[in-house]
Amino acid sequence: MLTVENVSKTFSTPGGQVQALKDVNLSVKTGEFVSIIGKSGSGKSTLLSILGALDNPSTGSIIVDETEINKLSGGNQTQYRAKKIGFVFQQYNLVPNLTALENVMLALEFGGYPSSSRLDRASQLLASVGIEEDQQQRRPSRLSGGQQQRVSIARALANQPAYILADEPTGNLDSATGKKIFDLLHDLSRSQKTTIIVVTHDLEIAGKTDRTFTLKDGKITTK
Ligand SMILES: Nc1ncnc2c1ncn2[C@@H]1O[C@H](COP(=O)(O)OP(=O)(O)OP(=O)(O)O)[C@@H](O)[C@H]1O
Ligand SMILES: [Mg+2]
Repeated sequence: MLTVENVSKTFSTPGGQVQALKDVNLSVKTGEFVSIIGKSGSGKSTLLSILGALDNPSTGSIIVDETEINKLSGGNQTQYRAKKIGFVFQQYNLVPNLTALENVMLALEFGGYPSSSRLDRASQLLASVGIEEDQQQRRPSRLSGGQQQRVSIARALANQPAYILADEPTGNLDSATGKKIFDLLHDLSRSQKTTIIVVTHDLEIAGKTDRTFTLKDGKITTK
């Protein structure tokens, strides 16, 4: 269970204060698959980063399984991310000098996976998102945007996280591949009770999730 209470986020910029989130309240149950939609700049990535403890709110709290994650020390926030969260970044954030396979193996290492089974598991995860063996040996710069996106999804799934936070995970995929990834996430939410929060611009995808939140100028307008 994840609860967002009265969360606001203000950024200071040379041009003045930007209020990216304004008094956001929402709650997502364990095993739920929800989507967040809204125009560019409405605060979607900001909200996802705060849910993943990659950033802290200016005010308000985020309670995940009874822990107020914004109150944790930096080290404990890192633990929270490693243990509970699979994050799919809008810009992928793969390690540039590692191959696709090594990127996923690194995540498994952080998650405490035994070294003897990392290679096999990483390869299987990549195959499950349609990254074939020769592509697994390539660095991100030698993969297409959609392939990098799928590597970042495989990495997010690596440690069987209880929560997957995905920022436009199908944004760079053709519709058939996007549907495959969506189905994979849907399966996880149903079979493993993984809680999934996806940011999307695709209303068809949003329509297939359990619930959709709409952000407008930093505020939730529908539930
Ligand atoms: N680190 C930052 N410093 C200053 N302003 C920021 C920062 N991050 C986000 N913003 C501002 O906060 C607002 C929300 O940004 P955010 O990235 O959350 O939007 P988004 O809904 O994810 O947009 P998109 O669909 O384009 O990805 C925007 O006005 C943006 O310029
Ligand atoms: Mg964004």
